[in-house]
Amino acid sequence: MSSYDLIAITGVSRGLGSVLAQWFIDQGKTIAGCARSQQGIDELSARFPAPHSFRAVDVTSADDVRDWADSVVAQQGTPDLVICNASICNDASKRTWELSDEEFDQVLSVNINGTANVCRAFLPSMVERGSGTLIGLSSRAGRKGLANLAPYCAGKWAIEGLMRAIARELPDGMASIPMNPCDINTEMYRSNWPANAPSKPSPEEWVAIAGPYILGLDAQHSGESATVPLPGYVL
Ligand SMILES: NC(=O)c1ccc[n+]([C@@H]2O[C@H](COP(=O)([O-])OP(=O)(O)OC[C@H]3O[C@@H](n4cnc5c(N)ncnc54)[C@H](OP(=O)(O)O)[C@@H]3O)[C@@H](O)[C@H]2O)c1
Repeated sequence: MSSYDLIAITGVSRGLGSVLAQWFIDQGKTIAGCARSQQGIDELSARFPAPHSFRAVDVTSADDVRDWADSVVAQQGTPDLVICNASICNDASKRTWELSDEEFDQVLSVNINGTANVCRAFLPSMVERGSGTLIGLSSRAGRKGLANLAPYCAGKWAIEGLMRAIARELPDGMASIPMNPCDINTEMYRSNWPANAPSKPSPEEWVAIAGPYILGLDAQHSGESATVPLPGYVL
C-alpha cells in the first residue's frame, strides 16, 4: 500500500468526497479539502481541525484554485495524493438539445476545467518534488455514451483523456489515473435516478472498498483507467 500522508480532495462537502476525507482521516492521513458550500466547509473545519484544512473554493476559478493549492503547499506541504472529485451532473430528464446553453456549459466547466485547474495548480510542486499521484474521478459515463447525459459523458470522457495525457508527461514514479467509482447512492445519483438509488451501495459501504483500493493505486497504474472493485458492478 502506498505511503500517502497528505491528501488533497475536492468536493468534500458531501457524497464520495466527504466519506473519503473521513475515511483517510481515520487511517491517520492529513486532509486538505475544498468544496463551494461555506457551511459544509465550516462543519468539516470544526470537526477536523489542524493538521487538516478545509476551504470554500469553486474549482471553476483557476485563480481561486491556485490560491488554495499555494496555501496548502505553504502550510501543510506538497500533497502526496490529489483526488479531483468535485463534479456536477446535468438534468438527466432532458435530451442534449433540450438542455439550456448555461447548463451544458456549467457541466463542462466544473467537470473538465475544474479538474484541470486542480491538476495544474498542484502539479508544479509535486513534479518538483518528483513524487505524487493524481486521481481524476471518471464514471461509467466516461467509458460509454449514455442517453440524456451528453455533457456529463463528454466531461467524464475528457477526464479519461486529461489524466492519461498527464500520465505521459510525468516523471517516473508519479501517477495520473482516471478512476470510475462505480454507482453509489449519493445526492448526485439520487437526484437523477431515485428509483435505482436504494439498490446502490451507500457512500459508507463504498468507501470501505474504495479507500484501500485508492491507497493501492500508484505509479504502476499511471495512465490506466481504474475502476473501484465493487462486487457485482458491470460497466
Ligand atoms: N455517485 C455515483 O454513482 C457516481 C458515479 C460515477 C461517477 N461519480 C463521480 O464521483 C464524484 C463524486 O460524486 P458524488 O456522487 O459524491 O457527487 P455529489 O454528492 O453531488 O458531491 C459532489 C461534491 O462536489 C462538490 N462540488 C460541485 N461543484 C463544485 C465546484 N464547482 N467547486 C468545488 N466543489 C464542487 C460538491 O460540493 P458543493 O456543492 O458544496 O460545492 C460536493 O461536495 C464526481 O466526480 C462524480 O461525477 C459518481
